[in-house]
Amino acid sequence: MSQIITVWGNPGSGKSMFCCNLAKVLTAGKEKAIIINADSSTPMLPVWMPDRLFDASASIGNVLSALEINTALVAERVCVLKDYSFIGVMGYSAGETPFSYPELKYEQIRQLIFEAAKLVDYIILDCSSQVVNFFTPTAIEASDLAIRILTPDLRGVNYLKAHKPLLTDAKFHYGDHLTFAGLARPFHAIDEMGHLIGGLDGMLPYSKEIERCGTSGEMFHALGYCNKHYLQALKLVKERLQPQENTVDTEAQEEDPELQETGQPESQEIRQPESQDKEARHELTE
Ligand SMILES: Nc1ncnc2c1ncn2[C@@H]1O[C@H](COP(=O)(O)OP(=O)(O)O)[C@@H](O)[C@H]1O
Ligand SMILES: [Mg+2]
Repeated sequence: MSQIITVWGNPGSGKSMFCCNLAKVLTAGKEKAIIINADSSTPMLPVWMPDRLFDASASIGNVLSALEINTALVAERVCVLKDYSFIGVMGYSAGETPFSYPELKYEQIRQLIFEAAKLVDYIILDCSSQVVNFFTPTAIEASDLAIRILTPDLRGVNYLKAHKPLLTDAKFHYGDHLTFAGLARPFHAIDEMGHLIGGLDGMLPYSKEIERCGTSGEMFHALGYCNKHYLQALKLVKERLQPQENTVDTEAQEEDPELQETGQPESQEIRQPESQDKEARHELTE
């Protein structure tokens, strides 16, 4: 049975990008992961894989509206990345709308999550920011580890303020979630924001190279451009998932004057994404 990781937070905070980077890190040792996104407002299959055409049956909407959701059905419908077969994805197809399928239901979502969990080592649930979309609360409830990613600004703070009261039930284990500041820039008042949202466990700094990966259809190549703060956040997640194997290294979480001033990683030279990927993974798995 896999470990289930749920990523939620305010719109545009870098959740989907984080899920891609996390999937890369978690599968570096040839484990397998499936990322599931059930937000029909932005179909993710064409965002993850813009160069591939999928028929309607590849859509998660199709799986979620099946009469019976079982392991065989999920295995058949997972779309495996062409150049990285350890990661599979499930999401809506190009052109689908929120009206393409019946409304999502708690039982179906739960079933999908647990059937998918029988297939691989890690399930990463990439949530919509809307909790009225049943996927997000169901995913938080089902998770072994939940991560909230908030932009360190008024939007992030107020998103949390609006959603915290909806997640007070013990089944959401709100107090155990990790909190990361997404798209952190040098002008953000990180400390103040951290204080307002009850503490930060890490930072996912903005980088124009990561943004370029996102906008050019290469979300799975962004890991190589993540700076040490981003990698430290990924490492923390990995350690939380495998507490017996690692000890938490808090060193890189200390304030970095360079980042405070420039917000950019120490090294700006362009290297081949894949070789950077390797380095990043190596650093994480050391
Ligand atoms: N650390 C980052 N640095 C720069 N751009 C980023 C970073 N993380 C995400 N992005 C970009 O920001 C936009 C929103 O990110 P995305 O992951 O789609 O957010 P969400 O899933 O929270 O709505 C995308 O264009 C993405 O490529
Ligand atoms: Mg997203």
